[in-house]
Amino acid sequence: MKTMHDDILQVLLTEEELSKRVEEIAADIRRDFAGKNPLFIGVLRGSFIFMADLVRKVDIPCTLDFMATSSYGKSTVSSGTIKVTKDISADIEGRHVIIVEDILDSGNTMAFLIDLLNAKKPASVHTCTLLDKPERRQADVTADYSGFVVPDAFVVGYGLDYADNYRTLPYIGILKPEVYENE
Ligand code: PRP
Repeated sequence: MKTMHDDILQVLLTEEELSKRVEEIAADIRRDFAGKNPLFIGVLRGSFIFMADLVRKVDIPCTLDFMATSSYGKSTVSSGTIKVTKDISADIEGRHVIIVEDILDSGNTMAFLIDLLNAKKPASVHTCTLLDKPERRQADVTADYSGFVVPDAFVVGYGLDYADNYRTLPYIGILKPEVYENE
């Protein structure tokens, strides 16, 4: 029987590498936000696994909320027009907000979210992304906390998808081109 793993060209980041780096980011956030009761806002759906691992490793008093945005649909290129498809429930006025993303690509989503959340008068807005593709950037945005710079390849796993599949792979892999070229 064919498995998800058969569609992976190369493992880019192993479970061990992910775990080690998430621990390092968590230590930085713990140092910077201890005593500040930060509010982590995970951007669904890609960030859900990273968010879950990160907040357990940060291990300080904090609260969590989630948003969802859409810009890609089934396309592999950002449309540049971001829509909020699920908004936060929390009141963020006066809170130290940390936006948690799986990937910073064009940067359009993060730039949009920073402006949107800043308008609600938080104490601060910081950004955290597991993966960063700086060569794809369109918006002028840099993450405050960043896990790995990755090449401009189609990466999936550890929350990241192609057409909503592969999110549950425990590692991050590069998808075989024939998977999306045959669509
Ligand atoms: C991905 C990712 C970010 C965004 C980054 O979300 O999770 O939110 O794209 O791209 P950008 O920097 O070019 O804006 P996607 O729309 O694929 O939804 P998903 O998280 O549900 O997979």
